[in-house]
Amino acid sequence: MPVAYNESSRTFHLFNNEISYIFKVLENNQLGQLYYGKRIGDRNNFDHLLEMRPRAMTVCAFESNRLFSLEHIKQEYPAYGTGDMRLPAIDILQENGSRILDFQFKDFHVYQGKKKLPSLPATYVESEKEATTLEVILVDKLIQAELVLSYTIFEQMPVIARNACIKNLGDQQLVLDRAMALSVDLPDMDYEMIELTGAWSRERTVKKRKLEHGIQAIGSLRGCSSNAYNPFIALARNGCDEYAGEVMGFSFVYSGNFLAQVEVDTFDVTRVMMGIHPHSFNWPLASGESFQTPEAIMVYSDQGLNKMSQTYHKLYRTRLARGKYRDLTRPILINNWEGTYFDFDEDKIVGMATTARDLGIELFVLDDGWFGKRNDDFAGLGDWYPNLDKLPNGISGLSKKITDLGMAFGLWFEPEMVNKDSDLYRKHPEWTLETPNRHSSHGRNQYVLDFSNPEVVSHIFEAMDKVIGDSNITYIKWDMNRCMSEVYSASHGSNEQGKVMHEYILGVYELYERLITKYPDILFESCASGGARFDPGMMYYAPQGWTSDDTDAVERLKIQYGTSMVYPISSMGSHVSAIPNHQVRRNTPIQTRANVAYFGTFGYELNVNELDEQEKKLVMAQIDFMKEHRNLIQFGTFYRLKSPFEGNETVWMVVSEDQKQAIVGYYRVLQQVNSNYRRVKLMGLNPDYEYEVSINNTLNYGDELMNVGLITTDGSSGEPVDHYNGLNGDYQSRLYILKAKNQ
Ligand code: DGJ
Repeated sequence: MPVAYNESSRTFHLFNNEISYIFKVLENNQLGQLYYGKRIGDRNNFDHLLEMRPRAMTVCAFESNRLFSLEHIKQEYPAYGTGDMRLPAIDILQENGSRILDFQFKDFHVYQGKKKLPSLPATYVESEKEATTLEVILVDKLIQAELVLSYTIFEQMPVIARNACIKNLGDQQLVLDRAMALSVDLPDMDYEMIELTGAWSRERTVKKRKLEHGIQAIGSLRGCSSNAYNPFIALARNGCDEYAGEVMGFSFVYSGNFLAQVEVDTFDVTRVMMGIHPHSFNWPLASGESFQTPEAIMVYSDQGLNKMSQTYHKLYRTRLARGKYRDLTRPILINNWEGTYFDFDEDKIVGMATTARDLGIELFVLDDGWFGKRNDDFAGLGDWYPNLDKLPNGISGLSKKITDLGMAFGLWFEPEMVNKDSDLYRKHPEWTLETPNRHSSHGRNQYVLDFSNPEVVSHIFEAMDKVIGDSNITYIKWDMNRCMSEVYSASHGSNEQGKVMHEYILGVYELYERLITKYPDILFESCASGGARFDPGMMYYAPQGWTSDDTDAVERLKIQYGTSMVYPISSMGSHVSAIPNHQVRRNTPIQTRANVAYFGTFGYELNVNELDEQEKKLVMAQIDFMKEHRNLIQFGTFYRLKSPFEGNETVWMVVSEDQKQAIVGYYRVLQQVNSNYRRVKLMGLNPDYEYEVSINNTLNYGDELMNVGLITTDGSSGEPVDHYNGLNGDYQSRLYILKAKNQ
C-alpha cells in the first residue's frame, strides 16, 4: 500500500520504490512536514523526525510550551500569522477583515487511481493500479471552511501530483486571495534553484542560482505562462549534475499567471510553493462555493537532472498528453509562415504543397493570413472566415485540393485575439479585456478577447467549428501572440474582477476541450509567439507545441536543450527553415538544420519552390531519414550529454526502449584548428550489446561507448581537404546511428 497512515502517531507516509513523502498531524491538529526524498522504510512512528527546539523570543502556540512554534516547525500547507511569519500557501479574507486561519485535520481518504480535475488539465491514469491518491481533509471551524489537500503518488514513477480544493461551508462570504497547489518545507538550503528563463525567440534558457536567505521567485503576470519564465523550478543539491546528485523538480500544470517561489528563512529552512500567482487573483467564495487549484507535479531524482527530465518526459508524454496522437509518430509538415508570411494566394500554396508532396512531406499547414482582411498584422483577427481574394475556393476548396494531392491539411488560428479592424470588434467591442475609461495597450496591433465570458468562447467555437466542419482539416496550430494588459472584463461585476485571469484560462481550456471532443482526429499544436505558452497545461490538449519562433539551428540547440529539462521530444515543434535565417541572419548547412530539427516533431518552414535541385535531394533524404527514425526519436529515452550553454559542442542522444538502437546528435558550433582528441560518454545502452556505429564505422560494446566514450575527434587541421566526412567549417553536425548487432 503506497499510502500508509499510522493511527497512533497520526502520520502519513506516501512511498513507492523510489520516493518517500511523510507528514503528520501536529499537536495543534495542523499538518507538519517530516520528509521528502529518496525512499526510506515504512515505520510505525516517524515522530523522531519532527524537529522542535526551544528558542527564545519566538511565538508559541501553547502557554508553558516553548517547543511548539509554527515559526520553526516544518509545515505542509502553512497560513500566515499564527507564529509562522513567512508567505503562506493560503490566504482568506474573512468578513470581519481577519486573515488568520486554523485548518485542522478532520479526516482522510485513500483510493486507488486519480480523479479528474474539473475543467482543468491534469495528469491521469489508465488503470487504477497506476497510482494511489490520498485526500486529507482539514477544517477551519471558526469560518467553516474546508481544505482538501490531494496527493497522488504514481506506482512506477518518482512522482507526486498535488492540488488543493477550498470550500466555503459556512454562511459568511470569504475571499480567497491565495491558494497554492503545493507547499513543502525542506530542512536546509543547500540547493541551487534551476529555472527556465528567456524572452521571445530565446525561450527556456537554463539558469541556476544558489539559494539565499529570503525570497527567490519566478512567475508570470502576463496572462500566459510566458517565455520569460516557464512554470517549472528544480532544487538541485550543490554539485548535482546531469547524471549524479539529488534534485527535486516542481512543475505546474497550468497556462496562466503562476508563482514558483522559494523562501529560505534565517534558520535555513527552505519553503517551496507553486500555484496561481496571487497578484490579480482574488476569488469570492460565497456559501457553498469551492475553488479548485490546478495541479503541480513533484519529481524526485537521486541520479541527477537527466533522470528528473526523463521522468517528466514519460509522465507528460503518456499520462498528460491525450488523444489519438499521443502514441503516434507525428506527421512531417511544411508550414508556409517563413516561406510566404502574408503574401500568398491559392496558386502559390498549391504550388508549394505539390513540391512538398513530391519531396515526401505529409502535411501542409497554412499559417496566418487566410481569413478576414488579414494582409498584415493590423486587421482581421476575430473574423474566422476565408479571405476569398486570396483563396477563391475558401478553406474547404483549398483543403480539398491539398488532400487530393495526397497530403493532409492543417490550419492556423489565433482564437483568443481580435484586431480593432475586424467585423468582430466592430460588432462586439465589449468582448475585449479593456479597463473602462483607461487607455488600452496593444500587442502586435491586437487585443485580447474576454475568454472569461462563456458567450465569447461559444462564439469562437462556432466560428472555428464552421471552418473545420466544412474542410478536410487534420491539424490546427493555435497561436496566441500577445500578453494581457489592463485586464478588466465587462462581463464581470466589480467584486469579481479578481477571477478574470483564471477564468480566462479556463475559457481557453474549455474551447480546447470542445474542439478536441468534437474533432478527436485533429492534431493540435499550441503556440504563443513561438514558445510563450509552452507548458504542461497546454500539453493536455495539444500534444505538441511550437517551441520557438527562432528557427536558427544554433539557437535551437539551446532552446531545445532547455525545453528538454521538462518536456518530451515528441512535444517540441522543430522545423528546417531557409538561410540566411530570418531571426539571426546566420547561414547554417541544411544538414545541420535538419539534424537539430529531427529532435522534435520535424518539418519545414520555407518555400520549397525556392530550393535548388541539390537541396531538394537532401531534403528528400532527410524526410526518408525521419520517417525511418521518428519512432525512436519521438518515443525513445532522451539523454542530454553536453550542454550548449557550456561550450562549443552540444551532444544529446536517444535510445530505444529495447536498447537495440540509438542516435547520437553531435553539434559543433565553431570550427577549431588542429583540435584535441574528443570523446563523449554515452548513456542508456546495454553494456553487453555490440553496436555498429555509423560514421566512425566501428563496432563497440555498450560498456565501451558508455565508459570509454564515443570518439568524436575532429581532426581537421586547417587543410583545404575535408578528411572528415563533411565536418569542416562552422555550424557542422553529425548523427551517429547505433545498431545492436545480432539482437
Ligand atoms: C507567431 C508564431 O509563432 C509564428 O509561427 C506564426 O504563426 C506567426 N505568429 C503568425 O502570425
